[in-house]
Amino acid sequence: MKKYVIHGGRPLYGKVAISGAKNAAVAIIPATLLVEGTCRIENIPEISDVDLLLNILRDLGARVRVINRTTVEVDCSAVGSQTVPYDAGRKLRASYYLLGAMLGRFGKAEVPMPGGCDFGSRPIDQHLKGFAALGAEVEIKNGYLCAETKGGRMKGSQIYLDVASVGATMNLMLAAVLAEGTTVIENTAREPHIVDLANFLNSMGAEITGAGTDVIKIRGVERLHGGEYSIIPDQIEAGTYMAAVAAAGGEVRVCGIIPKHMECITAKLVEMGAEVDEEGDSLIVRRHGPLQRTNIKTMFYPGFPTDMHPQIAAVLCLAQGTSVITEGVWDNRYRYTEEFRRLGAKIQVDGKIAIIEGVEKLTGAPMEACDLRAGAAMIIAGLAAQGTSEISNVKHIERGYEDIIGKLTGIGADIRAVEVPEPDRKQAPAAG
Ligand code: EPU
Repeated sequence: MKKYVIHGGRPLYGKVAISGAKNAAVAIIPATLLVEGTCRIENIPEISDVDLLLNILRDLGARVRVINRTTVEVDCSAVGSQTVPYDAGRKLRASYYLLGAMLGRFGKAEVPMPGGCDFGSRPIDQHLKGFAALGAEVEIKNGYLCAETKGGRMKGSQIYLDVASVGATMNLMLAAVLAEGTTVIENTAREPHIVDLANFLNSMGAEITGAGTDVIKIRGVERLHGGEYSIIPDQIEAGTYMAAVAAAGGEVRVCGIIPKHMECITAKLVEMGAEVDEEGDSLIVRRHGPLQRTNIKTMFYPGFPTDMHPQIAAVLCLAQGTSVITEGVWDNRYRYTEEFRRLGAKIQVDGKIAIIEGVEKLTGAPMEACDLRAGAAMIIAGLAAQGTSEISNVKHIERGYEDIIGKLTGIGADIRAVEVPEPDRKQAPAAG
């Protein structure tokens, strides 16, 4: 087991390169199940969620060749099994994309109920409603989602999503690309990774239009062929480093990004007193003066992303005045606030709203990462705090951030990972 030790209170300077987008990669890897031939995927982030998915594909019978740190070749032509191993599949949220992809390819799939970060209730009713519209029957048996369609091929359909879910939009695209006839999905999510998945599938022969808008049309094709594809840069990873500079101060070039994807985050950081200059595929982020309060409401793209909520909260803890965050996507994304209070932050939570009264300084303390973005936010808070912070349970962070220690030390942060023994559960005191 690892923990991160941070000596905070020093500004950040230098350059950080952004990796491929996690939430695109975790859909594109399952999408290779739909392809007969070899998919060469570049700019894959080196994170544990990607490793888990590649191992699941291997277990299903795919040939996975790692070409270098960020490039893999996947050939799913010989995949025979339609059952995802239980222990691996339940560890991550994105395993639900295996359901859409296998239904599309085989008309049959058995996938464990997905895991992922705990933000309260995370229903998948819109995925299931869409699969049913495409002709599949889905039931839950022994912890598995078991889906099957009569005749082995999905049938194009008209689907209206009650909520613009990222996961349902992508899963239904996967299930519909090889369907008989045309599928129209309305009220779709518009996140950059949805466009990326559509681009990947189209480059392999799919006929998808409208990705990035709220209506996506998919003309089913007979087969997809192999090809090459490079994943877009990670909007949230980039935003996390931008927030780190805003919180700790300094000047950092965040490179290898698509500045357009960053606008919702850039605008808020500027309101808070950071300076952001665009240069080609980089943003130069500076913060030397005081931080100012602001209000944030998380929304679907192009609104302010929920996956940047805890990181921006870390910055607002040090802003002059009182800020309000309204979480517009998840029921409970506030588990990080208890940890922030250990650093001296003044935050009150009421339902989906947090009120943050900025303080002059935070002081380092032990914190426990409770989910991926909360963990990243604790790093940011630790970098901005005076003294030493320790973050435990960092497996959550390593699910989604490639080499976060290396990247942060590269811009002058004093952060290191240390091995700690597993807690001895037999001797642990009873929880109250
Ligand atoms: N929802 C439903 N029914 C559904 C699906 C979703 O009511 O069938 C609701 C959810 O309860 C939530 C909202 O719709 O209130 C949005 O959920 P969505 O389906 O968009 O989320 P997701 O696909 O489960 C992905 C990302 C999350 C990110 C959200 C929102 C992946 C693997 N996960 O989750 O990313 O927060 O979209 O942008 O792509 C992260 O990367 O840290 C992360 C949690």
